[in-house]
Parts: sequence; C-alpha cells; structure tokens
Amino acid sequence: VRRIRTTHLQRCKDRDQRFSMLTCYDALTAGIFDEAGIEVLLIGDSAGNTVYGYESTVPVTLDELIPLTRAVSGAAQRAMVLVDLPFGSYEQSPSQAVASSVRLMKEGGAHGVKMEGGAYYADHVRAMVQAGIPVMAHIGFTPQSTNSLGGFRVQGRDDAATALLEDARALAQAGAFAVLMEMTASPAVETVTSEITVPTVGIGAGASTTGQVLVWQDMVGLTPGKAPRFVKKYADLRSVIAEAAGSYRKDVLKGSFPAPEHVFDE
Ligand code: KIV
Ligand code: NA
Repeated sequence: VRRIRTTHLQRCKDRDQRFSMLTCYDALTAGIFDEAGIEVLLIGDSAGNTVYGYESTVPVTLDELIPLTRAVSGAAQRAMVLVDLPFGSYEQSPSQAVASSVRLMKEGGAHGVKMEGGAYYADHVRAMVQAGIPVMAHIGFTPQSTNSLGGFRVQGRDDAATALLEDARALAQAGAFAVLMEMTASPAVETVTSEITVPTVGIGAGASTTGQVLVWQDMVGLTPGKAPRFVKKYADLRSVIAEAAGSYRKDVLKGSFPAPEHVFDE
C-alpha cells in the first residue's frame, strides 16, 4: 500500500476531489480507520477530552500525545498520521515549534503536525517547513484559545471573514500544506477554499472544503450528551457498548458466563 502524502491531498484540491480525516488515539481504531480508507488520522489534542477526561485541550502536553501518536503511526499502513502541537508547545518561538514537532515526528512517528493560530504564526510555519515538517494550519475556532476567544463561538462572520482569509493566505504562503477551519461560517470558508491553492479541511465549516474531519467518538455516537450541530452520528456505539456491558454483567452475576464452551476442561 502506498502512503497518503501531502501530494495526494494537493491532488485532491487540484482535481476538485475530497478526502476524509478522523481523529484517532490508539492502535485498534487506527487499524479500522486505515482499512476503511480514511486518508488522514489525527492525534488531536482533543485527546484531552476523549482520552484523558480533561475539560479542555489546554492541559494537554507533548508527553501525553507522543505515546498515542506512536500507537496510531505503528498501526496505520496507508493513512497520513498528523498530530496536534498542544497548547504551550509552540507559541514562544519558531524554534520551539520546530523542537516540539521534531519530538512528535521522531518519538511519535507522525508524518506531520497541525498547529492552531493565524497569520502571526507564519514565521513558525516557515521555520517548520524549512526543517522538513509538513504543517497543517488550524484557524477559525481554535479550542486552545477558548479562554481568550470568549467561549465556543462561530468564527468568520461578517468582518471576521476578511481576517480569516488573511490568516489562511499568510499561512499557505509560509508553506502550510493545508488549512483547517473549525466552527466557521460557510461563506468565509468557501472564499478561503477558492482563494488559496492548498487543500482546506473543515469541521463545522460547511461543505466547500477539500477535506472533512470529525472526532471519531462523535462520529460513531460514543460521546455522551447532545452533539454539536456539525456532527453527524454514523452509528450509536454508546448504546451498543452499554447493552453489551449490561448483558455481560448479568451473565456473570447469574453464573451463566462462562458457559461450557469458554472453559478449559483439562
Ligand atoms: O483536536 C482535534 O480533534 C482537532 C480536530 C477536531 C480538528 O483539532
Ligand atoms: Na485540536
């Protein structure tokens, strides 16, 4: 199998084709998604919520993402494996961003990184690309800065559309191989996608982007509570697993598991 690379994603953009991306944090799901043909697997800092049970992505560290990245990159034969630069691992300088990305690639086996932030981070992107690090830029709603953005708000509305396009242009010009937009008004996203030459990726950003991404537990209905509007549930795994666990417990308490066929008689 041939590895998906940035060139493949660029070809999608050039030919007006689409690609799919899912988050992934372990070897088992990496194998499933890889076999399903998902083009990009992201060890998102959403692991803060989905894996580590934090209330936000702010506390997530490189040391927490590296083992998950190693698990996913070891299991994915074809998918491109990307990982988030977590909060605090890149902001200070381009060289901090390079050093952190190098750790994620060397120790985690990632093929590239995703970094939150706008035009201000163009110098970071330039330094990373110089060092041989493929960078996916992440603009629009950037969860690491929820505390300064004033909560979960749709981005790119009205005047903010111009700033969004300026961010996308600056990051693409600096060498980002793709620009991801999260929870962003679709007209602004459409403009970015048509104005820049690199592929775009969306989550809650409408249907115009080259790629789409979802948190996998949201996509299969594992996440509790009401999902945000941009999520489509392709399965209801939460109830499947809950029913399985309940049946297992009942069998154990009754003594009907293990049955003879599960037992070593000698
Ligand atoms: O951390 C994450 O899961 C992400 C994607 C949802 C874009 O950044
Ligand atoms: Na993220």
